[in-house]
Amino acid sequence: MICIHKNKEKTGILFVCLGNICRSPMAEFLFRDLLTQRGLNERFYVASAATSREELGNPVHPGTRKKLAEKGISCTGKHACQLSPADYQRYDWLLGMDSGNIRDMLRILGGDSDGKVRRLLDFSARPRDIADPWFTGNFDVTYADIEEGCLALLDFLLVEEAGR
Ligand code: 4NP
Repeated sequence: MICIHKNKEKTGILFVCLGNICRSPMAEFLFRDLLTQRGLNERFYVASAATSREELGNPVHPGTRKKLAEKGISCTGKHACQLSPADYQRYDWLLGMDSGNIRDMLRILGGDSDGKVRRLLDFSARPRDIADPWFTGNFDVTYADIEEGCLALLDFLLVEEAGR
């Protein structure tokens, strides 16, 4: 399943996790909301994908849906899709949630020759993995981590863009 096509006018961001039902859709819709709040939607395209095939086609996990709804953010219509090698050219940044995701992403993508693959929280002052609420059951901690990562990512992208 293809999530979105590359558009050279805009910066493409792909969030990636194991199942694409908990963390990466949370990041996708939180980041989109951040862009909307700041009037930056036109400058980016944003999507999310899984490294595994476990949840392909499934909707966002109820725990993530509830957490996003608490913040007034809808993720209606999102279904899990899988990372493909072609995504490397479609996106400018491919952001995993934890070190295991990065390992799996590099395997699927066949490497990272352009240095586009990072953990989301590598952009924060405290680089670390984002725990998987599918295992922990704690969507609050994951949301706080993802919000920290998305804010740090946006700051980084705006500084990077200003320097071009
Ligand atoms: P996510 O969580 O990677 O944050 O979407 C998971 C969801 C499903 C599975 C693993 C992790 N699973 O194995 O089905």
